[in-house]
Amino acid sequence: MRLQLQTWCEVEQYLEQSTGILIPIGSTEQHGPNGLIGTDALTAEKVAQTIGEEQGVLVAPTINVGMAQHHMAFAGSMTLRPSTLLAVIGDTVSSLVTHGFTHMMFINGHGGNVATLDSAYSEIYAKYSFASQECPVNCKTVNWYTGRRIGELSRKLYGSAEGHHATPSEVAFTYFLHPDHNKNVTLSPEQAPYGTIRDAANYREQFPDGRIGSNPGLATAEDGEKVWRAAVDDVYEKYESFLSEA
Ligand code: NI
Repeated sequence: MRLQLQTWCEVEQYLEQSTGILIPIGSTEQHGPNGLIGTDALTAEKVAQTIGEEQGVLVAPTINVGMAQHHMAFAGSMTLRPSTLLAVIGDTVSSLVTHGFTHMMFINGHGGNVATLDSAYSEIYAKYSFASQECPVNCKTVNWYTGRRIGELSRKLYGSAEGHHATPSEVAFTYFLHPDHNKNVTLSPEQAPYGTIRDAANYREQFPDGRIGSNPGLATAEDGEKVWRAAVDDVYEKYESFLSEA
């Protein structure tokens, strides 16, 4: 149930039976030589929209550009500064609070967004704390790629080749979603190096083709379907228990 495809009357009706909403958030950034630039947004959106369709949960429009300054030395990457993303998340939550939504679950596809999401929630809660008012909203981040089922599946399929960035799991997921955009590229070395992240120039120096620790050459659309299903089941389980929180 996409918010964009409802009328205001339908949203008003929805709010009578549920005040929960899913908000996909991703990134628009390089994912190595064979991964799509939209990977983190496309995957988070698909997980959210599948839950929306299967469970009748409302899904807000996707926040497609995230905090990805460290990817900016690769063509096509886009970023919001943490301060900009903080404002985007804050205004998104405030808009939905105005209408009576109380439980907002951000389905996240990008590790670089996590710190800013947490800070944005604290900014929102602080407004109410300073005013000695009870905050009407509970916000939660769920990273689709860190659930129990996804962990088991990626260990089984890829072992240590899963790595940290441009992982075979996420690349497989997008290959399942977009079979016309599967890329056939030879990766060298097969498994990328590990390291820590700082600025964009330093990132490119350490990770010349953009990957960190991964071998996404193992990604197939067939496995991507399993990744999608595991992610949906992991995230929905968390949404159900989130709704029961005050
Ligand atoms: Ni990613």
